[in-house]
Amino acid sequence: MTTKTRVVFACQACGFESSKWLGRCPDCGEWNSFVEERQAAPQPAGKGRPASAGFETASRPRPYDMVDGAEAARMPSGIDEFDRVLGGGIVPGSMVLIGGEPGIGKSTLLLQVAHLLARTGGPVLYVSGEESERQIKLRGERLGITGGALFLVGETSLERILEHVDELKPTALVVDSVQTIYSSKFPSAPGSISQVREVATQLLFVAKGRGITTFLIGHVTKDGNLAGPKSLEHIVDTVLYFEGEKHLHHRIVRAVKNRFGAISEMGVFEMTGAGLTPVANPSALFLAERLEGNPGSAVVATLEGSRPMLVEVQALVSPTSFGTPRRMSLGIDANRTNLLLAVLEKRVGLELLGDDVFVSLAGGLSIPEPAADLGVAAAIASSFRNRPVPAKTALFGEVGLGGEIRSVGQAALRVREAAQMGFTRCLLPARNVPAAVDGMKLVGVETLSEALETLLD
Ligand code: TYD
Ligand code: MG
Repeated sequence: MTTKTRVVFACQACGFESSKWLGRCPDCGEWNSFVEERQAAPQPAGKGRPASAGFETASRPRPYDMVDGAEAARMPSGIDEFDRVLGGGIVPGSMVLIGGEPGIGKSTLLLQVAHLLARTGGPVLYVSGEESERQIKLRGERLGITGGALFLVGETSLERILEHVDELKPTALVVDSVQTIYSSKFPSAPGSISQVREVATQLLFVAKGRGITTFLIGHVTKDGNLAGPKSLEHIVDTVLYFEGEKHLHHRIVRAVKNRFGAISEMGVFEMTGAGLTPVANPSALFLAERLEGNPGSAVVATLEGSRPMLVEVQALVSPTSFGTPRRMSLGIDANRTNLLLAVLEKRVGLELLGDDVFVSLAGGLSIPEPAADLGVAAAIASSFRNRPVPAKTALFGEVGLGGEIRSVGQAALRVREAAQMGFTRCLLPARNVPAAVDGMKLVGVETLSEALETLLD
């Protein structure tokens, strides 16, 4: 029997399909992202192909009350920060996608995790489509990995990987880069979006059918040459991304989707000569290089998932030398910074119109939460007036368009973190002031002008 193929054009950024080539994807707006792909033509129902591909298990509806609701016991990976992003350990049989730029440390982290799992939870298979077993071993030696039931294979064919899984019956499987694996049953080129999706779906059947914990590594490239792991996000249970710069020595892993835990949970690691080591106290790391008493610097108490963290916001305000003033912000949403600049102009009366304003978060972090507003505004005002924010003072609070300071969640947790890091004063929204904390002066503020008066006058 010959399989018919049909030709479609698929957007390599989001997976949108069209019968003809398009210059711009109507779905995600990406330019020049359409590539010709061949797919097996869908067969009419009832002819040939059986309804199930063989991996599914028989299902039967059950009354709600009869369904076992107990959460499966989580397996600790042995790396605290990794367990934290996963929401408290690995859920057996789940599928996790780990994305990030090349060279950021994906293979390193997963080899460490695979090794630790193999020591406690049965055989683990590490499949690499990019490196040979020898190369993986060399990395392992750097990491000090020895012994355990860890198996390595350099392989790109999905069918052969499934055979290995059949034979070895691993409890966990790592696929080092899903983009390099291809199924010969599928006519599209390796790395194309439909091939990547097919491979992930097949692996999902196996993971769910046999309860194998599966980690997929996916490359995110800026030019979009390889099919984006974004298109896999809805298939897997958990999506983790490596964030930040690979030129810095610390790495941040953030959960952007998690069926078994909170999102925006993040883990902080340090890249050392012997792999990634967890950073137990990120506040200390992010405040390490701060110059106390420098104008334009403020320390905000922010919350990442369930963890409070102190981060330094820096601002530099200087007169514009050419026509339009420049506004740049790193780690803080640019719209948010512009909004704060407008509030500082109109409600506080700072004349920033003729100045360039640069805002940056130390350590290549990014904070999406508005609780950093007060810190950003204070850093800008401090640089503008050339007066430092007093040392040992931490801040948090959302700034409204009226110049009011709005309350934020988990105030007590933030204050406690600041106290632990040796801060003695905390400026926070008046409605947020928690019960007294030892050695901490709590100053509740209602408006931005009031806050800046307290800080800078
Ligand atoms: P790698 O895990 O290969 O990145 P990815 O799989 O995301 O492409 O990590 C590569 C970088 O990490 C490389 O620049 C070398 C560095 N590295 C260390 O600094 N220490 C180590 O122990 C290891 C294994 C790698
Ligand atoms: Mg790699």
